[in-house]
Amino acid sequence: MSNPLNRRTFLAMSTASCVAGLPGGGSAQKAARPLPVIRMTDLTNGVDDRIALSLNASTHDFGTGGKSQTFGINSDYLGPVLKVKQGQTLPFDVFNGIGDVTTLHWHGLHIPGDVDGGPHQEIAPNDTWSPDVPIVQHASMNWFHSHMHGATAQQTYNGLAGVLLVEDDASLSADLPKTYGVDDFTLVLQDKTFNGAGEMTYEVTTALFEDGFMGDTLIVNGTIAPTIQAVPKGLVRLRILNACNAQFLTLSMSEGPLNIIASEGGFLARTVEVESLEMSPGERYEILVDMAEASENSLMVTFEPSETGLLSGVWQGLFGGSTIAAVTLAQNDETGFAGSMPDTIANLSPPDASKAVRTRSFELNMGGEEELASLALLWGNICGAGMVMGINGQPMNMDRIDEEVRLGDTEIWRIRVDDQHHPFHIHGCSFRILKQEGAEPPSYAQGWKDMVRVENGWSEVLVKFDHEAKAGTPYMYHCHILEHEDCGMMGQFTVTA
Ligand code: C2O
Ligand code: CU
Ligand code: CU
Repeated sequence: MSNPLNRRTFLAMSTASCVAGLPGGGSAQKAARPLPVIRMTDLTNGVDDRIALSLNASTHDFGTGGKSQTFGINSDYLGPVLKVKQGQTLPFDVFNGIGDVTTLHWHGLHIPGDVDGGPHQEIAPNDTWSPDVPIVQHASMNWFHSHMHGATAQQTYNGLAGVLLVEDDASLSADLPKTYGVDDFTLVLQDKTFNGAGEMTYEVTTALFEDGFMGDTLIVNGTIAPTIQAVPKGLVRLRILNACNAQFLTLSMSEGPLNIIASEGGFLARTVEVESLEMSPGERYEILVDMAEASENSLMVTFEPSETGLLSGVWQGLFGGSTIAAVTLAQNDETGFAGSMPDTIANLSPPDASKAVRTRSFELNMGGEEELASLALLWGNICGAGMVMGINGQPMNMDRIDEEVRLGDTEIWRIRVDDQHHPFHIHGCSFRILKQEGAEPPSYAQGWKDMVRVENGWSEVLVKFDHEAKAGTPYMYHCHILEHEDCGMMGQFTVTA
């Protein structure tokens, strides 16, 4: 099993060797690149046409000078930021040009199973999938990514991911920064490894399945960190997605606290001030940075670089360390958003657990048991030598419905694990966390979420199922470490009247 102590010891050693003079030393720390602002498509004023998303194979330079083989959505790497509004129906045409079967899942959307884009909704190469996706939920930060069972990790890593921002009347009129690319930025954080030619790599090993993919280089919006962005005087809003396959990222500011205003499913009741925030893969948070007086402030990201990367990673050597300024905001003295840091943001009543009509329990399994292993392979899960994963003793099986939920019911789902930490996700809904690892969740995790962290003790969420998912297109629940998911740590459920 994984041994975090080893990794940390190794990290300490290699930081030391960095000082002793790996290629590039520490001087390149300052070589910040301009922050790429991902192209945004604003549909909030109306959708008159079908929305074309073209998934294609391409090449992309992350800043290494090398040409990496990538996937993109209407671009050479990652997808656009789509800004849409509650009440709209989005008529997508999703064209699959990647040369392999794929799917496109709308992570975080409260939509029926038949448009959810899960593993049953395969798009054959050169085919187009045309779901009409209804947006019924409140303002929230969502995303879309490949969900091709057994290939989710690789395809998402290659670039099949994008951001979907839902706005509503309240968010569009809220006293918050919302000028995209000026005082409102979307940040997609990922980790990568590169070979000596500066090409992105993804190596399948036993450790890969155990820990999930751990890169050595932090990427922001498709470019190697550190990045820099000029901003006007005033509040700046950062909408952040951890789109890593497996890496937990710890966020902090170089000056002052983080001011968190929203989690995956919407605004928090009030701004939550913390020194640092751990984001699991799949999680989203929005923060505000006060640039009224500051000339510079950086969003710092701490992560655990991979062991192999530290040994062989030229780029790791160049950009050094495991804490990096993902984005430095540099104030340019122009007039910007003049409002002040909000205290109260949204009406959010506390979760009422007495509404739950049922409790279900899920135990996440990691192991090498032979019986589990043969089942896992039989059911098309992609596992490394000896690693097997499942939930309640069962690896994922596309032909098996694990749970049946009644439409409109509120339930408590409790999740436990005895090894490692895992970010658990449920499709088609947002939920409220009642307990995280046996305790009250931190205040920034007390709003609407679709991810919960599971490590020590039971995590419990209160969830209402308002949309239908029939047996042919069931919803998924799974660990969002994408290699664990591909390896079988996933189950299926229906929601029917
Ligand atoms: Cu982000 Cu089932 O996925
Ligand atoms: Cu999802
Ligand atoms: Cu996991």
